[in-house]
Amino acid sequence: MIPDYHDILDHILIDEETLQRRITELGTEVSRDYVHRPDILLVGILKGCMLFMSDFMRAITIPNAVDFMDVASYGSGVRETSGDVRILMDLHTSITGRDVLIVEDIIDSGRTLNKVVNQLRSRNPASLEVVTLLDKKERREVDVDIRYTGFVIPDAFVFGYGLDIDEYYRNLPFIGVVKKGVVLG
Ligand code: IMP
Ligand code: MG
Repeated sequence: MIPDYHDILDHILIDEETLQRRITELGTEVSRDYVHRPDILLVGILKGCMLFMSDFMRAITIPNAVDFMDVASYGSGVRETSGDVRILMDLHTSITGRDVLIVEDIIDSGRTLNKVVNQLRSRNPASLEVVTLLDKKERREVDVDIRYTGFVIPDAFVFGYGLDIDEYYRNLPFIGVVKKGVVLG
């Protein structure tokens, strides 16, 4: 049985209202920055980006298109990424000559994003930037350029608002910190 989220939640780190307020700000900032090249392709990295993408794209007031990529990172443990990143589903759109904004849920070691950025850069977009909702800055192992950040958060395992614990709890409207020692399944 998968426990109700109340049983695994240590505390709420970012509540729904704070998330929504910050996402609106990000949308406004991006709309202003891209006003002279108003044909953004938002590239979401599945599946964590789902909820953020849907709110973020609605906060953008200039024309935008969306596409998705699914990548798998393999690591020594479930919560560690090795940087061995495989594309499970590629974009459906050509990005050559386009203004691309990668939409990520969270950056931890930076290994996943680094691979995605290198892969997409080789396709010669007109520009390539990154927006991430969450940044666990102190965990960074690989340097990545992040243009827009929602929140810098401490080194704790978080879930909700698109982020999962073993694929569950993505639907929660807030970002929560999991209790220590929780293992599902
Ligand atoms: P990185 O390659 O170490 O930066 O890992 C990034 C990926 O690991 C994210 O896209 C998430 O899928 C996952 N991840 C990292 N930290 C967390 C977390 O606290 N909760 C849920 N997923 C996480
Ligand atoms: Mg992700």
